[in-house]
Amino acid sequence: MKKTNVLFVCLGNFCRSPSAEGVFRQRVEQRKLDEYINVDSAGTGRWHIGESPDPRAAAAAADRGIDISHLRGRQVRAQDFDDFDYIVAMDNANYADLSALASNTQQQKIHLFLDFANQVSETQVPDPYYEGGFPFVFSLIEKASDGLLDHIQNQA
Ligand code: 4NP
Repeated sequence: MKKTNVLFVCLGNFCRSPSAEGVFRQRVEQRKLDEYINVDSAGTGRWHIGESPDPRAAAAAADRGIDISHLRGRQVRAQDFDDFDYIVAMDNANYADLSALASNTQQQKIHLFLDFANQVSETQVPDPYYEGGFPFVFSLIEKASDGLLDHIQNQA
């Protein structure tokens, strides 16, 4: 299997994308694919650069046996479009912001996370920063992570 680099992106790199990074990495480890799949996350915004994830996200992750407390926020950079094979947006606004930063040839790397989720009617992971709803956000992230990993394994 060739090395695949996956970057999860939301607005703040504070709630959804660090949660996705943690859940997806757990799945990668469970399938013993850590040698082949590299995972990271970033935000389109600048507010939470250098910060650890939202405590509510960290608590929901810990409930699932996942530690995301060591992650630190960073902003998406131009180099990411060279370094990563899959740049995975949580919602349509993240997708549009990423698309504006990418060159024509890099557009194909950008995906909407829930396009990989089976049996999910939502098309976007809702932003839980103001509204809460972390258990629902995690349920979407879990389904999409399984689907994305299936997809990557099928490509290999
Ligand atoms: P996220 O949630 O995009 O899932 O990390 C947000 C976190 C922080 C802000 C917005 C969304 N903020 O405006 O600071």
